[in-house]
Amino acid sequence: MEKDILILAIESSCDETAAAVVKNGREVLSNVISSQIALHTLYGGVVPEIASRKHIEKINQVIEEALQEAGVTLTQIDAIAVTYGPGLVGALLVGVSAAKAISFATGIPLIGVHHIEGHISANFIENKELEPPFVCLVVSGGHSHLVVVKDYGEYEIIGRTRDDAAGEAFDKVARAIGLGYPGGPKIDKMAKEGNADAIRFPRAKVEESEYDFSFSGLKSAVLNYLNGCQMKGETIVEADVAASFQKAVIDVLVDHSMHAVKKYGFDKFAIAGGVASNSSLRAAFEQRCAQEKIQFYHPSPIYCTDNAAMIGVAGYYEYIKGVRSGLDLNAVPNLRLGER
Ligand code: KG4
Ligand code: ZN
Repeated sequence: MEKDILILAIESSCDETAAAVVKNGREVLSNVISSQIALHTLYGGVVPEIASRKHIEKINQVIEEALQEAGVTLTQIDAIAVTYGPGLVGALLVGVSAAKAISFATGIPLIGVHHIEGHISANFIENKELEPPFVCLVVSGGHSHLVVVKDYGEYEIIGRTRDDAAGEAFDKVARAIGLGYPGGPKIDKMAKEGNADAIRFPRAKVEESEYDFSFSGLKSAVLNYLNGCQMKGETIVEADVAASFQKAVIDVLVDHSMHAVKKYGFDKFAIAGGVASNSSLRAAFEQRCAQEKIQFYHPSPIYCTDNAAMIGVAGYYEYIKGVRSGLDLNAVPNLRLGER
């Protein structure tokens, strides 16, 4: 019998301090997340300075908890996987430094992982049968990418946002209608009470690219609509605004994704990232994929948000390919997918 491979994973790219232990790339032995959301809510968004300070306070505790919960010690760990980009530089540095320190002290190999590669790999945790190739839509607070997953660790980005990320649009619109941060889950909930056909917001197409996204025009349309109502003294039905805005985002995400899946001739499609928890988005993809006879995959919400288990999964596939990082590994805030 082959020896089990255990990866200790660390993630600190934004406002979550997280550590996990993953066995053989698909089994999560522990997944500890210390969220700073409550702290940043006070300021209406993530404050980078506060995020890095909080990561420093929490990182060792979170790593110890992850090992303890998994029932393993560092001596059993085969590699340490850590997010080294993209993200907030001061936040990334905390995880990278912790991982390098453990690697230096113990001799355990170090593997730098791309944050988006982690989000995509979250799909492998609960869908044991899922293997590349497939198309994956990554939608989070910082990213909106349409990616062809050619093989483990091999990606081609075919579509990206030209301006705001999908999650960013949710957060900005939520703020405009008086919901707090983070806005995505609040719009998701409020939209259930509203009429998605009440207001016709634009579905932006990007000239010269069939897969790129643009959400800033939609965000402006929502703001203009709200201002217009205020000026005319008309009542704003927030739930209708939330539902109509959400539908405009989802229509574009679904259309572009299904177009890509067909064009590339795959029968598998996955979603990932914080916005992938959105209940209407999931329902829309479930329906379209069933119609088009495409197998639809999505992680549970706990693996959609930033977490270290997904980094452990991506790290495992890099590990078995022989990828290793040196102790000169550094945080790369604007790291591109597929680059090392
Ligand atoms: O992946 P994530 O946790 O962090 C980044 O890497 O950005 O994504 C956070 C984003 C936030 O913009 C948040 O509002 C959005 O995901 N989000 C949602 C939902 N849950 C989180 N957006 C829409 N519907 C949701 N249910
Ligand atoms: Zn993320």
